[in-house]
Amino acid sequence: MSVFSFSSGNSSEKSLSGPAPITASEYEFIRQTVYEHSRINLGPSKKELVMARLSKRLRALNLASYAEYISFIKSAAGREEMTNLIDSISTNHTYFFREPQHFDFLSQVILPQFCEQDNGRHGNTSGTFKVWSAATSSGEEPYTISLILDDYFTGRKNWNWNIFCTDISTRVLAKAQEGIFSKDRLGPVRPDWLVRYFDRGVGESEGFFRVKANLRRNLSFKALNLLAPSYPFRDSFQVVFCRNVMIYFDRETQEELVNKIYPLVQPGGYLIIGHAESLTNIKHPFKLVKPSIYRKV
Ligand SMILES: C[S@@+](CC[C@H](N)C(=O)[O-])C[C@H]1O[C@@H](n2cnc3c(N)ncnc32)[C@H](O)[C@@H]1O
Repeated sequence: MSVFSFSSGNSSEKSLSGPAPITASEYEFIRQTVYEHSRINLGPSKKELVMARLSKRLRALNLASYAEYISFIKSAAGREEMTNLIDSISTNHTYFFREPQHFDFLSQVILPQFCEQDNGRHGNTSGTFKVWSAATSSGEEPYTISLILDDYFTGRKNWNWNIFCTDISTRVLAKAQEGIFSKDRLGPVRPDWLVRYFDRGVGESEGFFRVKANLRRNLSFKALNLLAPSYPFRDSFQVVFCRNVMIYFDRETQEELVNKIYPLVQPGGYLIIGHAESLTNIKHPFKLVKPSIYRKV
């Protein structure tokens, strides 16, 4: 058992009755700025959502209107605000074992294939299984993967694994790095795995669970915009999870992204995308294995 400590938070935000509704031209400016920076495509229907999310930023910055907020973004002092703007707009919703078929495929197909292939190719019984979680959000996806990997490799001597976790949002990455989740986020985790892989919070942390340090040390976190012209990896990966982020991007951006990921996947390795996403109308060299699962052959 361990005790986590949480800061109680210290808000010096000025209380405002709320800004006037965003005008059409202000909304268009925000829409364009967000698109240019992240390719998150906010249609006209997202105006209410943008207002709801940005009003918190206005309060935090003590700004009274969207016009003031836009002037701030355009000013030299507001350059850093872009991260907060994207943080506020992006949808980070995720949960443990989301789209469980992917994790079944990982444990039942990819991992046995990797171990056998490696045995055959190198004639040994060791290796490092590397995963990239490319839109990691608050960490539920990579920690789910970590449970599967630890369970699979336990008792298999000389095998290691690591997960590289990236997201455009520094806010969610900070949360992911902590590895602390409330009980309701952990619903689908097997009860024996809850005991084996999590420390249970006590006292004021009652109801929270922290992923154990021996798992956390295999995960690394870094802010990365998937639109960056190149990615800072020296390694390639057995599996890239790039789930539920392409859905924001237009076809051209999706095509660019998938073709930038391709060289980072090891031969025989996999790209896994969200069930609501598809590579059907884009040009890419991956082979479709089953819906949302692609292989570099
Ligand atoms: C809905 S979450 C997906 C979480 C997880 N992969 C899953 O499937 O449950 C989408 C994530 O994509 C991130 N994102 C949006 N645009 C991005 C970009 N251009 N580069 C990197 N991450 C981005 C958001 O910050 C958000 O955390």
